[in-house]
Amino acid sequence: MGSLVVVGAQWGDEGKGRVVDLLSEQADVVARFQGGANAGHTIVADGEEYILHLIPSGMVRGKTCLIGNGVVLDLPTFFEEVDHLTGRGMNLEGKLFVSDRAHITLPYHRLLDAAREAANPARKIGTTMRGIGPTYVDKMMRIGVRVCDLFEEDLLAEKITANWEDKTHGLRHLTEEQRPNPDAVLGQYLLFAARLKPFVADCSVILEEARREGKHILFEGAQGTGLDIDFGTYPYVTSSNTIAGGACTGTGVGPTHIDHVAGIAKAYTTRVGEGPFPTLMEPFLEERCRKIGHEFGATTGRKRLCGWFDAMLVRHAARVNGLGSLILTKLDVLDEFETIKLCTGYMYKGEPLSHFPSSLRVLAQCEPIYEEWPGWMTPTGGVRRFSELPEAARDYIRRVEEVCNVPIALISVSPSRESYIALDQSLLRYDFSVPEAISSES
Ligand code: GDP
Ligand code: IMO
Ligand code: MG
Repeated sequence: MGSLVVVGAQWGDEGKGRVVDLLSEQADVVARFQGGANAGHTIVADGEEYILHLIPSGMVRGKTCLIGNGVVLDLPTFFEEVDHLTGRGMNLEGKLFVSDRAHITLPYHRLLDAAREAANPARKIGTTMRGIGPTYVDKMMRIGVRVCDLFEEDLLAEKITANWEDKTHGLRHLTEEQRPNPDAVLGQYLLFAARLKPFVADCSVILEEARREGKHILFEGAQGTGLDIDFGTYPYVTSSNTIAGGACTGTGVGPTHIDHVAGIAKAYTTRVGEGPFPTLMEPFLEERCRKIGHEFGATTGRKRLCGWFDAMLVRHAARVNGLGSLILTKLDVLDEFETIKLCTGYMYKGEPLSHFPSSLRVLAQCEPIYEEWPGWMTPTGGVRRFSELPEAARDYIRRVEEVCNVPIALISVSPSRESYIALDQSLLRYDFSVPEAISSES
């Protein structure tokens, strides 16, 4: 029995979908706990590619999948994904569940997201325009529409009408025709409600039952620690807690029932949207890295900026997530780099910083402290054992582990399911040491 939380240790797109697909082979239940249709998780299995935004990556292996209360649910995207997977021959019946407490992204949330991004270019966040921030605003304002509200027509009508009046100020730049009509929205969401009904459940109860039956549970994070609302590079973050603690609040599982937390990091770093990026590569190498790593957003298609591995950020991620292991992805992307830089810390006003700073002004003035490592200039995509990696690659990985101070459990060397090197089998088997109850000894 084991429950494992998998989170991004950088600014998202670390390869969570790929790793969750790998780790869900032995899982019984896979649960998403935060974010929404802003996520884009790519899975490559048996030569087929899947890009999922809301449905947990464990669905590709036909596992029981939960969308927790912490997720903001965009119903058109959800049904598109359901149709897409069904069209590819998957049977989701009795396998996919949505929390009755999850909040719903409504058409005006997307419009408000776009309006806010356009209003002041200097304060733009570079969001995915999926209405994420405005949906979480309503949740915290306590005016949000939850999945369970869809089944109480009078309450739903009341909420949509009241919210509509509240939002019209933010959407005053739109013409009457461009604004969604509250009656039309209500009608559309009542139809969605009927279609959603078979998926709705109390996911906390499902998780508790699974745990009591000794099942393996995998919690799939979206985004990454650098985008966490509290511990990321605020305000250039997303609007949820992406860190491991979010798995508890976002699914209704107590912290005493989490056995292990694994952080995923690329062998370098990427970032989409606005915000500081201390280890950004020099333009020529940046372009090259993006090309080799296909660093374009899985949700928006935007260019991802590429930078060197930032151990200052990953150490911060290790602390705030309580990482028990690190999973390094996309090692193969560095195969053709003559020299690889590794940022071990930051200098600020001539002094080394002890921790990742909270202030963006400080972060913007930090100078990365780099080590330069020789590249291996050899393809690694076919390697399956650590000992078979080129010596320079092993040296680089050992040094990454040392500066992050977290054991590396897995290394991914291609997008495909089978292309990995396992250094610690316990992660694949979910055999984390769980203390025995004293009563069980007598
Ligand atoms: P996520 O949001 O964390 O799930 O990551 P994305 O799916 O947005 O982006 C990761 C991209 O890298 C996807 O296109 C994956 O197919 C790809 N990928 C994952 N692991 C590896 C790897 O080890 N090597 C290479 N070359 N690509 C990988
Ligand atoms: P996955 O799960 C990378 C970024 C956006 C923007 C900021 C806020 O695939 O790793 P939002 O739409 O959430 O309000 O945008 O967060 N962002 C991501 N970057 N991967 C993601 O998800 C992201 N989800 C949001 O680019 O900078
Ligand atoms: Mg992604």
